[in-house]
Parts: sequence; C-alpha cells; structure tokens
Amino acid sequence: MSDVVTITREGAVAIVTIDNPPVNAVGQAVRQGLWDAVTTLEPDTQVEAVILACAGNTFIAGADIREFDGGSMEPWLADLIDRIHSSAKPWIAALHGTVLGGGLETALGCHYRIADRRTKIGLPEVSLGILPGAGGTQRTPRLTGAAAAVQLVTTGVPVSAEKALEFGLIDRVTDDLDADTMTLAQHAAGQPVPRLDPAPAESNLSQDDWDNLRKQVEKQARGQLSPVRAFDAVRLAFETPLAEGMDAERDIFMELKETDQSKALRHAFFAERAVGKPAALKSGTPRDISRLAVIGGGLMGSGIATAALSAGYTTTIVEQSAEAATTARERVAGNLASAVKRGKITEEARDATLDRLTTTDDFDAVADADLIIEAVFEESDVKRAVFDKLATAARPDAILATNTSYIDPTTFTSQVPNPERIMGLHFFSPAHIMRLVEVVRTPDTHPDVLATGFTMAKKMRKVAVLSGICDGFIGNRILGAYGRMAGYLLEDGASAAQIDGAMKDFGMPMGPFEMFDMAGLQIGYSNRKREAATRDPQMRYSRIADLIVEDGATGQKTGRGFYRYEQGSRAALPSPETEALISAERAEKGITPRSFEDSEIVAMLHAVQVNEAAKILQEGIAERPLDVDVVKMMGYGYPRWRGGPMQEADARGTAQVLSTMQSIADADPGSWHVADLLQEIGGKNGRFADLNT
Ligand code: 3HC
Repeated sequence: MSDVVTITREGAVAIVTIDNPPVNAVGQAVRQGLWDAVTTLEPDTQVEAVILACAGNTFIAGADIREFDGGSMEPWLADLIDRIHSSAKPWIAALHGTVLGGGLETALGCHYRIADRRTKIGLPEVSLGILPGAGGTQRTPRLTGAAAAVQLVTTGVPVSAEKALEFGLIDRVTDDLDADTMTLAQHAAGQPVPRLDPAPAESNLSQDDWDNLRKQVEKQARGQLSPVRAFDAVRLAFETPLAEGMDAERDIFMELKETDQSKALRHAFFAERAVGKPAALKSGTPRDISRLAVIGGGLMGSGIATAALSAGYTTTIVEQSAEAATTARERVAGNLASAVKRGKITEEARDATLDRLTTTDDFDAVADADLIIEAVFEESDVKRAVFDKLATAARPDAILATNTSYIDPTTFTSQVPNPERIMGLHFFSPAHIMRLVEVVRTPDTHPDVLATGFTMAKKMRKVAVLSGICDGFIGNRILGAYGRMAGYLLEDGASAAQIDGAMKDFGMPMGPFEMFDMAGLQIGYSNRKREAATRDPQMRYSRIADLIVEDGATGQKTGRGFYRYEQGSRAALPSPETEALISAERAEKGITPRSFEDSEIVAMLHAVQVNEAAKILQEGIAERPLDVDVVKMMGYGYPRWRGGPMQEADARGTAQVLSTMQSIADADPGSWHVADLLQEIGGKNGRFADLNT
C-alpha cells in the first residue's frame, strides 16, 4: 500500500484517503497511489461505493506545481480521473479546505461531490499561466453552463461551497462531512452510476456572444495569455464531444506550461512564499505582541492602524493635537466603512474593530505598547524628535519601528537605548490595502525583532521582504533608477505618452510619468533641492520635472504636471504648456530630439532596474533576486506574469540585458555604471534565479 494513499472499509463502502501534507497536492506518488486503489477496488465484489477523502486541513489543493519543470510522470492525472469516472462503482468526493485545480478536477471525475460548508472551490490555474489540464475546462461547463464555467476558469478566483452548489459544481453542502458522506455513499452503493454526458455542452450563446466574451476576457487579462487560452478551451466544450475537448485542453496545457509567462507566474508563486523565509531570520523567534501604537495618524499612519486593528491588535494612534487625533479616527473609520461597502467585512466586525482603537494627543499613551510604529512626515528632524520622546516614553523592551521610505533609520534613532529593538517597517500607501512591507534591518536589529516584524506582517495578511539599509531600500532605490532613465529618455526625444504607453504595453498598470503626476511632483522637487549640494556633478541632471513645478504645475491634483487633467478626471491628456517647456529645455541643452522604438524604451528601463537591483544584491541589501522580484510585483505593480525584473532578465537573457546596460553606461559614464554582479551573470548569460536559495 502507498505511503500517501490508504484504503479502509466500512461495510460495502471503501474509504480512499490521501495524506500528503501540507496541501495534499496530487503529485506522482498520490496519482500512483490512487491508480493502485482503483486497481484494488474495481474487482472487489465486497465494495459497492468508494469515498475519496483527504487527511489534514484540505482536500487536494491541485497538481504538484514543483513537478512542472520536470518531464511528465505517469500515471497522468487526466487518465487517472478518466479511470475513476469510468468505474463501475460510485465514487463520492468528500471536500473540505481548499479544493483547487487538479483537486477539483479529481472531484469532478467522481460521481458525487459533497462539501463542508467552509470549503473554497476553484480552478486557479490561470494564475499560474496555465489552464486546468485534467478535464476542468471540459467537465465544468457540462455541469455549470457557460457563464459560471467562464468565470471559474478565466478568473481563477475560488468560490464558496454555497456558490459551487448554486453553480451545479457540487451536489451538497454539509456541516457534518464525515457522517453525511457515509450516508450518501450507502445510498449510492449498488445503484447505477451517474456519468457526465460526453456530447458537446449546450449554451444559448451565439457566436457573436462568444466573440464578445473573448474580447472582454482579453481586455481583463492585460497581456496575460492564459485566461484567453483557457476561455478558448471552455468554448470548445460547447462545440466538441468530451474526448476531443480533453485532447485539445491537454495540448493547450502543454503549450502554456512552457511559456515564459507560466514560468514567471510559477516563480511568483514560490517567491511570494520563499520571501518570508530569509536566512537572516533563521535564528529569530517572534515576540508576543498584542498592543500597538502608531505615531502619526495621517494617510499612512491611519492606514497602518487600520491594517493592525483588522489583524486583531489593540491599537493607539498618537497625534499632535486632539483635533488631529479625531481626524485620524475618522480616517480609520472611513477605511473600515469602505471595507464594509466592498463586502470585505460585516458592520459588526467593523464595530468590533473600531472598539480596539484609541486615538489621543497624549504621547505617554505609548507606555503600554509592545510595538510602536513611527509614521510621521518623511523628514529626518521630524522623525528624530519622535524618537527623542520614545527614548523615555516607551517601555525599554518595546520594539520601535520607523516607516521611513528612504532615510537610514540609524541617523535619527541613535539616542534611543537598546538599539537592537529598532527596525524599519516600510508600508506602502494605502497601507491597509497594499500587501508589501519592507522590513528594514539596521546593523543592531536583533533577529527576534525582525522575526516579530515578519510575523506581524503575516497576521496583517501582508508579505514582508527583508531589506538592508540604503537610500530608498529595495523598492524606492530601484524606482529611482527607473525614474532617472525615464527622465533622460524624455529629454532625449521620447514623449511622456510614448514612454508611458510602452510601459503599459509591457504590463505596468501605469507609466512613469502618469505615476509621477499621480503621486504629485512637489515632494520629489523638495528632495532634489535639498540634495543639490551633494549631487554628483558628473551625473546627468534632467531639470524637466523641476521646471514643471516652477511653472506652477505639481501633478494630477493641480490639473497639470507632465500631462493635463480635466476637473475631476484622472485621464492624462497632452499638455501644450508642458510640451513647450520640454522642447525649450531640449533646445537650451542643445539636444536634438531623436526617435525611440517602444521596445528600446522598455529594454532600457528594464536594464537600469536590473542593474540597480544587481548592486542591491551585491551590497547584501537584498538577500536574493526573488526578494527584489516580490518587492516590485507587490509594491510597484510589476506584472506578475513577468515575475519581476530579475525573472524578466532571465527570460530575456542576461547577456542581452548586460549589453543594453553596457551601451547605456558607455554613452553616459557619468550617470551609469554597470554593476559587477550583472557583469558576472550577464557575461556568461547565466540566470539570476540560480542565486535564489
Ligand atoms: N504544489 C506544490 N506545492 C504547493 C502547492 C501545489 N499545488 N500548493 C501549495 N504548495 C506548498 C507551498 O509552496 C508551501 O510550501 P512551503 O511551506 O515550502 O513554502 C506549502 O505548500 C503551504 O502553502 P501556503 O503557504 O500557500 O499555505 P496556505 O495555507 O496559505 O495556502 C493554498 C494553501 C490555498 C492551497 C495555497 O498554497 C495555494 O493556493 N496553492 C496553489 C493552488 C493551485 O494553484 N492549484 C492548482 C495547481 S495547478 C493544477 O492543478 C494543474 C492541473 O489542472 C493539472
């Protein structure tokens, strides 16, 4: 008998149990075990019905994604499911936990499906760049009809057991899975086995309806291939018999599995999990935290407090005045109200969450906090003043965190006793929605403190990435190189609209200039003025953003920045004033504008990010390339289906990226220097992924 699949018996009912932690993925050993179970049970005249169940937290959560990079290993899942479906005895799938992908497909091969009420059921394959490859695109429509099948297969979003029942995907929802499954099996025992109709599924959609639906799916996919191909497979279920549809599905699955997009999405899946386990955390034990204080209740502080409260922490926001404290409370209440509106939480949950919030202008209220997060204005002196007070007002063992997004925390915390308790927690705005947190380690931070930051982030349903100290940490430092290159391209002749368009076609949600306008140009302007004295005189300086601000335009909020905006609209329109200003600046600098191909723009903007990331890696600021990828995907909208800049570099070929970067540096050695690590990896056309341990 297999290690992962066992058979027990209760009268005429056999119970086949899969036990393959952590998620009962249906890897080769499970497939073989199930195959053998069918071989054992089929001729057994004592057995009249079979229950398929899983031990642990969940029914099968899918195929084993780790096997995708090797060759296919028999028995194949589709063949196994066919064998179960052809069995002379009824098979009943007992569902609990997360029934996903190949797990749902296995259940669809069974003749009955009964689910615990809390079960989540879905076909998430498109989020791995593939499609359900073991009958999911063919059996689902035959049970649910067109609309639900298109939704399940092309969005990949799981549904509740109740919804699955409504869709016709399962037969029953229960609060007592074991007992009700056994009763169902006993009733089905010895009865004729219901089988899926192999004829094409029926729908009332016309060819035009299907074509229009495809266009919608294509639009929503924004460059990602798998939802569109998955849609094509579902459509086939309405045009061809089951067996032909299954063959076509398998072909599309094999084709998609080999694409760069699927490799990138699989990388993203594992990177998002590996990022929480950096080597530096191995020696750390998280401390117990229940009471949090947030200093500053502006947009960032109230967002952080909202996330903390929602994770169950008792939270105090400390503001400078009673009035500001009231505004902070209103902000948190507003955040929670929109969560209610979006159906994320109930009104009762909102009230209970708000009950855990205290807002005050009394700094001494931090005295009972286990962890304190400073979220005041991004200015060293302002932050130092907060830490001056924390040095005496906070408990000596309380963990102190700063939300700085650029500044070295040691420059404003050196007066605080016990520096091993200090770290950066760089949240992204809006902090109650964005999932990324950079956990910044100072030379003194204790591993237990870092571990606490990671555990707290996880409780807040965020993804934490470890970063060392440098200007802008991982994400904003790379953003700096990206923005600088975008500015040079603009000055050299590309238009903001062309650059933004090229990056959106690449898959970014917005281009750099739309992003600058949205964020507002004022803060960058002030930073640049402050840094002017220390700026490297060899480095090229594009003044265009400064000139726009000096011309009275600071971005979307003021109706003009790199673009023009009509009242109340976010649509970026050409601004004749800004364009005239750019032309004048080019003339002033003696630059003859040249034209750029979109692909050249993308390659250059990609190369400078990889180059900066390579420096970040060689300096030990980020541990692994995957840390960089996760930061860019989760904090900056880098398309998941490209897997982040480092994965994209591997897909393009690092030799190619090096060559682009070398040309950039050769043309302007004062501004750019090729990173040693890029030189080393690109020099042998190696892969950054090989550094992911
Ligand atoms: N294959 C291999 N490993 C998997 C896996 C899978 N399908 N699903 C999860 N794991 C691993 C994770 O990598 C993680 O490993 P680690 O501990 O070494 O980091 C471990 O299982 C636990 O996973 P999570 O940390 O994600 O645990 P959660 O409890 O937060 O979430 C889950 C559980 C909802 C099942 C989530 O892991 C998940 O969404 N998994 C992927 C589900 C999926 O995409 N299924 C479809 C697979 S493709 C397929 O079935 C093809 C078929 O059509 C032929």
